[in-house]
Amino acid sequence: MYPVQHSTPRLSLRELTVDDVDGVLAIYGDPEATRYLSFEPRTREQVEALVRGAIAASGTEPRTEYALAVVSQETSDLIGFARLAMDPHQQRAATLGFALRPDAWGQGLGVETVRALLAVAFGRLDLHRVWAARSPANTVSEKTLLRAGFVEEGRIRQHVFVHDAWRDSVTYGIVEAEWRATL
Ligand SMILES: CC(C)(COP(=O)(O)OP(=O)(O)OC[C@H]1O[C@@H](n2cnc3c(N)ncnc32)[C@H](O)[C@@H]1OP(=O)(O)O)[C@@H](O)C(=O)NCCC(=O)NCCS
Repeated sequence: MYPVQHSTPRLSLRELTVDDVDGVLAIYGDPEATRYLSFEPRTREQVEALVRGAIAASGTEPRTEYALAVVSQETSDLIGFARLAMDPHQQRAATLGFALRPDAWGQGLGVETVRALLAVAFGRLDLHRVWAARSPANTVSEKTLLRAGFVEEGRIRQHVFVHDAWRDSVTYGIVEAEWRATL
């Protein structure tokens, strides 16, 4: 399904373009923004490959990867990177991921981003279930997911190898009816 576009009062989600490499690097290359993610800060070359891969994946049918730019309505700047990845082992389900540039934090835009992704997931993509995973140390992500309507579901032990160690993930889920109740 292409292209995906969704607007909220302060943000839009849109497809990535090759001009977004620096915008994504400001997030995925930043040690603070990636502190609790599943990878070390990325180099420019890695981000360029990621953006090109995301653009290529956006044209496949059926589409299994939705890597989207989060854009400020006010400035048109890319301020975040958001992702829905279809779960190959489940019916109508996807994993959700999100990260914002540090200078955009603390204004409610994280919750607005997650809600926008859920609107795409349960609206346009007609999914039944979305899940997410966070580092146990990532308490801001916990608050963001709960505020957007997710429910904590459990813990995956030693889920991710990052910063030279295995770490657990805390998982969250939301189903379509729960999302509708938040509207
Ligand atoms: C997670 C992230 C997107 C949150 O974005 P944000 O715009 O700062 O979040 P919001 O302003 O929408 O706030 C969401 C919740 O976190 C709380 N919060 C935000 N910043 C906080 C802080 N520094 N300390 C404590 N709580 C904080 C808010 O109060 C709100 O909770 P509440 O509704 O219960 O009051 C952002 O911190 C980020 O990009 N982090 C790096 C990437 C990442 O960790 N992604 C999640 C991967 S699972």
